[in-house]
Amino acid sequence: MPSIIVHGGAGAVVADADELRLGMRAAVSAGWAVLAAGGRALDAVEAAVRSLEDDPRFNAGRGSVLTEDGGVEMDASIMEGDRLACGAVAAVSRVANPVSLARRVLDDGRHVLLVGDGAHAFARAAGVAECDPATLVTERQRKRLSERRGATPGGTLPGTVGATALDRHGTVAAATSTGGTLGKRAGRVGDSALIGAGTYADSSLGGVSCTGDGEAIIRVVLARRALEYLKEADEPDYAAKVSVDLLVEEGRGEGGLIVVDWRGRIGYAHSTSLMPVGWMTPTLGAPALPF
Ligand code: GLY
Repeated sequence: MPSIIVHGGAGAVVADADELRLGMRAAVSAGWAVLAAGGRALDAVEAAVRSLEDDPRFNAGRGSVLTEDGGVEMDASIMEGDRLACGAVAAVSRVANPVSLARRVLDDGRHVLLVGDGAHAFARAAGVAECDPATLVTERQRKRLSERRGATPGGTLPGTVGATALDRHGTVAAATSTGGTLGKRAGRVGDSALIGAGTYADSSLGGVSCTGDGEAIIRVVLARRALEYLKEADEPDYAAKVSVDLLVEEGRGEGGLIVVDWRGRIGYAHSTSLMPVGWMTPTLGAPALPF
């Protein structure tokens, strides 16, 4: 049974839930359109994540948080669970849709992870259009960076985006994209670029996309560990909850994750007060958006 679940990032402050809901609905619909037409899970998760990268309300693509220098440096990864095929990019600043550049890395097959100038050179060679980095910077994120310089804000907004899906051929895929953490050092890379930490898919088990404190997620290799829990418990929601416990207790950070299993059942959990999620299955008439 095909299914898709999408997240809009774990955070503590509700920006505008109705606005986030619009973005989530559009992303689920973009992914579901691929699956409903018999398309591939890999194309579905890429379409869902692109939709959120294009939405400046989320911390990915245009609207990414800024580094301490005021720049944008984005990370993204994508994986297909039949062949364990994966691609990722890190610290990219001149592409509008890092998830699609990660997809080109996957399709190319030679490497898994390309960073910075090397990733931009690959983009040029692959014919992926470069954009002016200034077009990715929003006024809202400029303001947030200057507020952070002045004082510690009251909490983090949701933002990193991700999707995981099962298609009718039984293939699972997952993808994640982010601008990282507000005010990070230039060159800092988080979990969203790292297969096994922020993203993982194995069609015999399921797919996972994580969000939250990247350093903590990396410490516990959260996405892959979540699939181990799924294997033991055969219950996506339970696997997600135990994974969040692992993130908080052993990783010493906050966050959340979404899961789809090899049968199309979905699960999610978060330690933050908010994590926008949305999903779609053949039994639903419209995307579920329970936040
Ligand atoms: N989880 C996103 C990041 O820490 O970069």
